[in-house]
Amino acid sequence: MTPDLMQEGAQRLTDYQARQQALVATESGGRSASMARPVVAGEVDVTHGRILYLEDVHVSFDGFKAINGLNLDIAPGELRCIIGPNGAGKTTMMDIITGKTRPDSGTVYFGSTIDLLRYKEPEIAAMGIGRKFQKPTVFEELSVFENLELALKTHKGLAASMLFKLSGTQNDRIAEVLHTIHLAGSVTRQAGLLSHGQKQWLEIGMLLVQEPKLLLLDEPVAGMTDEETVRTAELFLTLKGKHSLMVVEHDMSFIDTISEKVTVLCDGSVLAEGTLAEVQADERVIEVYLGR
Ligand SMILES: Nc1ncnc2c1ncn2[C@@H]1O[C@H](COP(=O)(O)OP(=O)(O)O)[C@@H](O)[C@H]1O
Ligand SMILES: [Mg+2]
Repeated sequence: MTPDLMQEGAQRLTDYQARQQALVATESGGRSASMARPVVAGEVDVTHGRILYLEDVHVSFDGFKAINGLNLDIAPGELRCIIGPNGAGKTTMMDIITGKTRPDSGTVYFGSTIDLLRYKEPEIAAMGIGRKFQKPTVFEELSVFENLELALKTHKGLAASMLFKLSGTQNDRIAEVLHTIHLAGSVTRQAGLLSHGQKQWLEIGMLLVQEPKLLLLDEPVAGMTDEETVRTAELFLTLKGKHSLMVVEHDMSFIDTISEKVTVLCDGSVLAEGTLAEVQADERVIEVYLGR
């Protein structure tokens, strides 16, 4: 990097830190006001009470039915937990929603008007469906701030993005996200030096700066310490309402803390749906999943 660029980077950080302090000092106008914003339709029509709708979806891989008549309905602002044995089709379901895998048949709608099967993966991401894969994929050599900045600029499609200065609103968004993901004290820290849990939060932050309407999280607490898991549960509870979330997890105490409605997937379709207590009491669920 040239000295000019480095200086610009340092200046941006100073600007950002000043903004961050102003933001924390503002009682209602700053973070809390924008954080409390409910899921807004935007281009997504949620007037029918659903942000995501899957009906009778089928996918086969070499004759093996990975997804077999899957139906799913997620409300705006809902936090839906998905559980089920390995191979149930949980990750494949996320692949379908995000356009990574094309189903053989079925319906997949974002809101009541957007037919996701007509769009490609990057278009679906740009519409506001963010996905967190199992392994953290942050840029290890960049700082926490730079990772968030890059995610924001990449999302905005700014060409030669390192040369662009963030607007005040964008800086505010980063500051807000840093608080949400508990990394406000590690702004300049190199991402590679963060703990596994912090890297996961940073990656969630990289999605949040893009203001996704729907977030898909695949086994987000796998490999986390107990304390990190508890903090992740708190994080998800703060996201609920502002975003719609679909969380795939095996950690039952984590699910118990965050869940309202739980969907049990098995053999590519829904086996049971209800509160965690309800599905845990379901004989079929015990047989295929919990009892093992
Ligand atoms: N691209 C693929 N090619 C072939 N088989 C696949 C592919 N993706 C997933 N599968 C198979 O589909 C089934 C469902 O997998 P997956 O969605 O990863 O389950 P889960 O996430 O619930 O553990 C598994 O049997 C898996 O081996
Ligand atoms: Mg999986």
